[in-house]
Amino acid sequence: MSGERIKAPRGTFDVLGEQAGMRMALEDRARAILEGAGYERIETPAFEATELFARGVGSSTDIVRKEMYTLTDGSGRSLTLRPEGTAPVCRAYVEHGMHKQPQPVKLWYLSSFFRYERAQKGRFRQFWQVGAEALGSDDPAVDAESIVLLGALLDEMGVREARLRLSSLGSGESRRRYRERLQGHLRANEQNLSAEVRERIELNPLRAFDSAHEGTMAVMRDAPRLLDELDPDDVEHFAAVRELLDRAGVAYEVDATLVRGLDYYTRTVFEFTSDALGAQSGVGGGGRYDGLVEQLGGPATPGMGWAAGIERVLLAGSPPPAGGQAVDLYVGLADLGEAGSFSGVKAAAFEILSEARSAGLTAQMEMAGRSLKGQLGHADRIGARFVAIVGERETLLKDLQNGRQETLATDKVVHAALRGLRELA
Ligand code: HAM
Repeated sequence: MSGERIKAPRGTFDVLGEQAGMRMALEDRARAILEGAGYERIETPAFEATELFARGVGSSTDIVRKEMYTLTDGSGRSLTLRPEGTAPVCRAYVEHGMHKQPQPVKLWYLSSFFRYERAQKGRFRQFWQVGAEALGSDDPAVDAESIVLLGALLDEMGVREARLRLSSLGSGESRRRYRERLQGHLRANEQNLSAEVRERIELNPLRAFDSAHEGTMAVMRDAPRLLDELDPDDVEHFAAVRELLDRAGVAYEVDATLVRGLDYYTRTVFEFTSDALGAQSGVGGGGRYDGLVEQLGGPATPGMGWAAGIERVLLAGSPPPAGGQAVDLYVGLADLGEAGSFSGVKAAAFEILSEARSAGLTAQMEMAGRSLKGQLGHADRIGARFVAIVGERETLLKDLQNGRQETLATDKVVHAALRGLRELA
């Protein structure tokens, strides 16, 4: 019985071929850069208690209001596929008592995330992020280092036209006061705002800076700026972050209108954008979240981090091609027998395959019933160095690099291939 074809859900994709190779290259670079700076790998579960994101990301955000994949499990618990990685990392920090370790605790991840968004170029419903979080220090050097590391990764991945925007959202009382002033400004100009911004004056007034609506943009041009109203401590912190970035030779522009789509940010926020991406120009971004761990039931702990979308890094960049795995030996069969049937030759070939791998060679074996010519062609296509054509009593070993060949007892094949490779080296 044949069934109707089933496709991957909208906004999702399969990772294969060249894409898989480029992702591996990115993961290798991310590991080298981040682990070199003292970050350790963490992987959290793909789903968490819904409450973690409602409380962590913030109930006024688009993510929590419209974009979460939430389900009820068999025992009636509300679970949500992770839409982001910072709240889960903070949950893990508390759960594993990481505040007792030397601070800052630096963690990195490369995982998939889920948001029910309108799918388009560079925007998916399941996407991958590489992210880094440093918990337990409010030193501006943590902010600067974190930003420098993402810059280095984007650089190495050949991301073109990357622009770094930087701002500070301040903290505490001054931020509350500012929020009220901004709400006053928005209310006074309510008739010119988009319906969406109007609806969110109470809930999330800062997001008005992100609107693409003409009238709203005009209102926001005259809006008070948070950067002008920071507490002295926050001014000093922001100045130190900028000074350190200058020392590291990182170019940035201070953009007082930069707001991010998550509620947990305090003080430093930043975003790398690339014009190579079109509408979805955000390649990666992040900032400081000094209240989040406490909000999730842990001890008061500052935090700073970022995440970059892997698909967007690859779209905006020109990643180095991942070198495929070299094949030392291709084990073919002289006597094909019935396709899929068992024969002594096949058993001997399989033994060579196992022996070759035990000896540290990379090896593959004919498993598709190709003709002798077909097998040689295939060995050539996959770039094998040696091909062994296993016969009843003897095996022909051919060096595909120089065309030399010899006939050997089957149990001498691996030895001869090893010798040949050593000569090459
Ligand atoms: P975010 O800005 O929501 O921040 O996402 C970070 C990056 O993930 C974006 O810049 C973008 O490249 C990518 N991204 C987001 N949504 C999608 C999507 N639907 N399709 C493809 N790529 C997407 C966060 O998630 C924070 N957790 C970052 C952070 C870490 N802040 C502090 N620590």
